Amino acid sequence: MKKTILTGLRPTGNLHLGHFFGAGQNYIKLQDDYQFYLEIADVQALTDNFNNPEKVRKNVKEITADLLAIGLNPEKVNFFIQSQIPEIAELTVFYSNLVTVSRLQRNPTVKAEIAQKKELFGEKGESITYGFLGYPVSQAADITAFDGELVPVGDDQLPLLEQCREIVRKFNAIYGVTLKEPTPYLSKTTRIKGLDGNEKMGKSLGNAIYLIDEEETVTKKIMGAVTDPEKIKKDDPANPEKCMVYYYHNLVNSEENCRLVCEECKKGARGCVACKKELITHMNEFLKPIQERRKKYEENPELIEEILKKGTEKAKEKARMQMKKVKEAMKIDY
Ligand code: TRP
Ligand code: SF4
Repeated sequence: MKKTILTGLRPTGNLHLGHFFGAGQNYIKLQDDYQFYLEIADVQALTDNFNNPEKVRKNVKEITADLLAIGLNPEKVNFFIQSQIPEIAELTVFYSNLVTVSRLQRNPTVKAEIAQKKELFGEKGESITYGFLGYPVSQAADITAFDGELVPVGDDQLPLLEQCREIVRKFNAIYGVTLKEPTPYLSKTTRIKGLDGNEKMGKSLGNAIYLIDEEETVTKKIMGAVTDPEKIKKDDPANPEKCMVYYYHNLVNSEENCRLVCEECKKGARGCVACKKELITHMNEFLKPIQERRKKYEENPELIEEILKKGTEKAKEKARMQMKKVKEAMKIDY
């Protein structure tokens, strides 16, 4: 039997290069060999967007289209919508007994996010909601509702996986061995730097290239990318390691070309404007097949609806079976 993969994405915006080179490539690689459940985590998205339901709703379809566009095959991957699986909410309630509030408060990912969301949760996190603090519990429910064994994620998700494993161990110790401990599956490149040189590419940082970005947008963004600040004149020698343009050449250009960029840059034989233009060409070439695949879904939105409907039906079946086991173990199988 194929092993089960479960992973999720919050529908809060379109996918960018960071998503693609982070988890996306792994999804593509893994889809052939595993039973793959891909959750569009709208309930989780609502934990910090509860005041913006329209945004979450819109992005359920957007993100599904993006995922199909990068080459996920809906015959192999079950796309499903978290809110449509009541078992996940039920499990969240059951697991909430198995985790302390202080453990949640210490979760590094949760802590970092609270600090980023001052507007919503207060300067010192004093307005944190029960729901947001508890989202790692809900994520443990996501994973275990599907008996997820392997979870492809970026490294920022490791504390959430660890929290899930703790819940599983505690559940099994108290109620008898019922749940599987999931293993995270990290990508080679777990994090892509932003155009501004920031360690992370992100929407809130305004330093991302989106998979749906049109040529004009790509041009504008790359023209504004951070280069070696010591290079002032066109023929100044520079250090490509300090340049985001070189960094992105490495993602979308051939090895041979990258070597040339590096050599010429170091010698002062390459101007930054020409170097950026070359990157723009390669970036657009990279994005083109993704955008072409996406077009099919944009023109036929009912295809996306159908894929989500079918995947959600399958997910429901699986979660129902798992729930039966859990309720038996907890002695609430009336
Ligand atoms: N927390 C993940 C994120 O921020 C999304 C997610 C929801 C997830 N449920 C999951 C990831 C289950 C892995 C497994 O992107
Ligand atoms: Fe960066 Fe290219 Fe300029 Fe060198 S020549 S600093 S690699 S943009």
